[in-house]
Amino acid sequence: MKRRSFVSGSAALAAAGIVSVRAAAAATIKPYSWDLNPPTDTRDNFIAWGKARGEDPYFLGQRWDRFQALLKNKDIWGAATIRAFLLTPREEFAAVNPNIHKRAYEHAFLDIGYGVTMSGPHLQARMTNVIDVKRGEKVLEIGTGSGVQSAYIANLTDNAYTIEIIQPLAQRTRGVYDELIAKGYTEFQHVNTKSADGYYGWEEAAPFDKIIVTCGIDHVPPPLLQQLKAGGVMVIPVGPPGAQRVLKVSKTQGADGSITTSREDIYGGKIVPFVPFTKLEDGKVVGTHNR
Ligand SMILES: C[S@@+](CC[C@H](N)C(=O)[O-])C[C@H]1O[C@@H](n2cnc3c(N)ncnc32)[C@H](O)[C@@H]1O
Repeated sequence: MKRRSFVSGSAALAAAGIVSVRAAAAATIKPYSWDLNPPTDTRDNFIAWGKARGEDPYFLGQRWDRFQALLKNKDIWGAATIRAFLLTPREEFAAVNPNIHKRAYEHAFLDIGYGVTMSGPHLQARMTNVIDVKRGEKVLEIGTGSGVQSAYIANLTDNAYTIEIIQPLAQRTRGVYDELIAKGYTEFQHVNTKSADGYYGWEEAAPFDKIIVTCGIDHVPPPLLQQLKAGGVMVIPVGPPGAQRVLKVSKTQGADGSITTSREDIYGGKIVPFVPFTKLEDGKVVGTHNR
């Protein structure tokens, strides 16, 4: 799916019947630059800095408070991921549902419609930190949902790809990105979107340095493993329905060319339920890819 202009983005939102609480887009945000570095010393300094970029002090305060909780819980640790979290306007992605807009920074999955959720900030921070994205790396996300996960990635690399299986949701989120780009959040130009069954990856854009899967499945999809570069890392919830464990899967190539993979549980065994990794058949979402 190609990037759309703001006008068609808004049209997409309207067509999807979305009541957005986001104000009509106008370029009110200081455009992105890799030099943007939000302060991490005090809440007041962070809010003042974000206000100068054009953001809302109420949500900046919430973002700071959640950042402190993430640090305390050891869900975030790398300087680049911290910067990405502090730059990502989570509230803008929650604005698709007025009931969750003000709750954007809560430690919870939030309902974004279409029977799916926006993952919580602790989980997203930990998964993002684990894949340790370097600038320029190519990253694939399976399960665009609200778009907030790829919004974090857009602050780490200019080479992000995300796939959503629910076509109207993919269209709505494309509209959200376009609206935010028009508002000045030019970092979201780093995100390429499409609607498809992510089980098969994104062949034309492969291989990827990193892959992040945000829906749960009982095995690692072979096409995704194949599209991961040697030396690459994937983070994926694996397990039976509603009882996944979040795994870091590392792919390595030996001196003789042989490929091996290793797995590590990023929560040390804790069960983390995810929405299912569903399947597309004849253009309809039917069942799951579980074996
Ligand atoms: C937890 S939700 C959304 C996560 C998203 N990163 C966010 O924070 O908003 C997982 C998403 O995966 C999508 N999904 C499920 N199966 C999929 C598949 N086979 N291909 C692509 N997306 C899929 C769901 O429709 C849902 O939007």
